[in-house]
Amino acid sequence: MIYGKRILLIVGGGVAAFKAIETLRLLRERGAEIRCVLTKAGGEFVTPLSLGALSGSKVHQDLFDLTAEAEMGHIQLSRWSDLVLVVPATADFMAKMAQGRADDLASTLVLATDKPVMIAPAMNVRMWEHPATRRNLEILRRDNVKVVGPNAGEMACGEYGYGRLSEPEEIAKAVVGHFLRRSRAQRLKGMRIVVTSGPTRESIDPVRYISNHSSGKQGVAVAEALARRGAEVIFVTGPAEFDSPEGCHVERVTTAEEMLRAVMDALPAEAMVAAAAVADWRMERPGENKMKKDGQGGAQMLRLVENPDILARVSALGPPLRPKLVVGFAAETTDVVNYARAKRARKGCDWIVANDVSPATGIMGGDENAVVLVTAEDEEPWPRLSKREVGDRLAERMTSALIGAARAEAAAALEKDGFA
Ligand code: C5P
Repeated sequence: MIYGKRILLIVGGGVAAFKAIETLRLLRERGAEIRCVLTKAGGEFVTPLSLGALSGSKVHQDLFDLTAEAEMGHIQLSRWSDLVLVVPATADFMAKMAQGRADDLASTLVLATDKPVMIAPAMNVRMWEHPATRRNLEILRRDNVKVVGPNAGEMACGEYGYGRLSEPEEIAKAVVGHFLRRSRAQRLKGMRIVVTSGPTRESIDPVRYISNHSSGKQGVAVAEALARRGAEVIFVTGPAEFDSPEGCHVERVTTAEEMLRAVMDALPAEAMVAAAAVADWRMERPGENKMKKDGQGGAQMLRLVENPDILARVSALGPPLRPKLVVGFAAETTDVVNYARAKRARKGCDWIVANDVSPATGIMGGDENAVVLVTAEDEEPWPRLSKREVGDRLAERMTSALIGAARAEAAAALEKDGFA
């Protein structure tokens, strides 16, 4: 769970500061290692003695008591932690954080850290609702600060509304959730995955080309979802208008042959997802000069040849080049599942994500997708989801399959070495 996780707990001022003590106890109970920093205002409400006794280590209060040689410097202290947690975060402390001020130990640590920061605000309801606090909250959220609460309820001052510090159990739950998400998020770390995306473009002559309407949106969504889970994603894309997928290595190509080369160069990889809409044909010999109309009113014959099937080629590779999991897409307009099943067998890939792109569905170029996942064992229809959600679901399924495969491989290796 959070065993051995290091948390730097900053205790701010306010009558709710006593809840920081219970939060500290709950986090230690769950296995976390905690160091405490007490702000000047916080020191008016709780004592360093109680925090020190519960955390099992010295409580830091002053920027200057950290400069002594035997002490950990404030930069090290801010980096020592896996999470900086502020309980309670007063309106004043939030304002300081939003401005990036560093005029005492607590604000200096928050500014100097390179670790995630979580705050549990507590203040009077008017202060919480004040436009200045709303602005600061907005800035902090944009800076990726996680915010727990506050809750609605009666305040120490007798007023009622939002501003009550979250309960210690809620704060502890948010901390555990944060670490769980992070460890889940990195499950594909160390694995390389190749994703093809977008259309390809095949020249007819220097000014004309053959291509299709693929937007590349689904490919971007799959690539980002895999990268969010820690995979090293090589995103091979044809000319599409899209925001580059976050956290991926992008290889831009134009033609199917260039795409094939870029994919082969990226192997070996644990998995490949072929989301590209590769042009089926290219010119046998593209014109060196712009083709002319012949004045007869007819069109010229274009001599086309078939492009290499990237998905089929990769699926047919032998070990160690063939990825353990090869996933293709199938855009169909009729009898979607049957065609997809046949395509899976013909191309030799492991899974096919099949979708109905008949014009009535509005899927082509849109933001939603309704797919059926076809595997060797079964067909699984998914509800209509955004392309982002389809990317997430597919990445999640791939993660389970890849981790399962890695475990099976490790077990087989152990058995081979006589350890089973
Ligand atoms: O045969 P069809 O184009 O319907 O197959 C679609 C699947 O095959 C997609 O995953 C697509 O990326 C992949 N494909 C490919 N190379 C081609 C044609 C399709 O990788 N030349």
